[in-house]
Amino acid sequence: MTAEIIKGSEIAKEIRAELKIKVEELKKRGITPGLFIIRVGEDPASVSYVTAKTKASDELGIVSETLVYPDDTKEEIILAKIDELNKDPKWNGMLVQLPLPKHINEAKVLNLIDPTKDVDGFHPVNVGKLLIGEPYFMPCTPHGVQELLVRSGNSPEGKHVVICGRSNIVGKPLMAILMQKQKGANATVTVVHTGTKDMASITRQADIVIAAMGKAKAITADMVKEGVVVIDVGVNQVGTTPEGKRILVGDSDFEAIKEKAKAITPVPGGVGPMTVTMLMANTVRAAEAQAESK
Ligand code: GUN
Repeated sequence: MTAEIIKGSEIAKEIRAELKIKVEELKKRGITPGLFIIRVGEDPASVSYVTAKTKASDELGIVSETLVYPDDTKEEIILAKIDELNKDPKWNGMLVQLPLPKHINEAKVLNLIDPTKDVDGFHPVNVGKLLIGEPYFMPCTPHGVQELLVRSGNSPEGKHVVICGRSNIVGKPLMAILMQKQKGANATVTVVHTGTKDMASITRQADIVIAAMGKAKAITADMVKEGVVVIDVGVNQVGTTPEGKRILVGDSDFEAIKEKAKAITPVPGGVGPMTVTMLMANTVRAAEAQAESK
């Protein structure tokens, strides 16, 4: 079997076209969705992600502003800015790009963001709502994974999904999304992690494997069954081309697994564009909800 390649960039384009119509409708009502991004330091991956977010905003007609702080910025400065943004009606959504430098308390920063502007879905209120099946803002990467599965004709309903990795950004919220008794979910979900004994014996039982452990090519062909669907959330830089471009690979061994799988996402061009797209969807939703509550 040679796998179907699930093109995240194509599915993302489809969703962005739907969002563009929503933004145009909002603009007719005098509302321009606004997204404020805070980045601290010059982590190359963060620079690249934030650039993708502002570019997508521009393309959809969402106003965005990025504030870049130096690495040694005091926590109070960031907290004061968030407080100001919470009160400013121009900004419907805001996010602080992670990771933050070690001297800044990530939880303190995320907890201060108004949950109704928390377009990353990282605030404990939004995490809790997601877990009880009443989501407000869903975190962008796991929501993008769900959309990829459903829109590529690989709905997780009734399937055994094995999520490899338990991060707060991907593994845990994806577990919450896919286990809900809802359309596009209703899966049997197993989460494996660094504390799991004999991970391969579990991944081999999966109809759908989500590779999200942050380790290059960690999921190998012998760890999956014939006909599996693999969604690869990993982005690992393994080198640089002579032209200075980053060489990226996922958390799965794409070349080997594609000979065995029903479908697989590439890296890049798989989950990445979906993350940015779901952020845009959350920002549009924030603008709509805030207009209605006025
Ligand atoms: N770092 C890696 N992924 C994300 C994300 O989705 N949002 C933010 N804010 N930071 C990240």
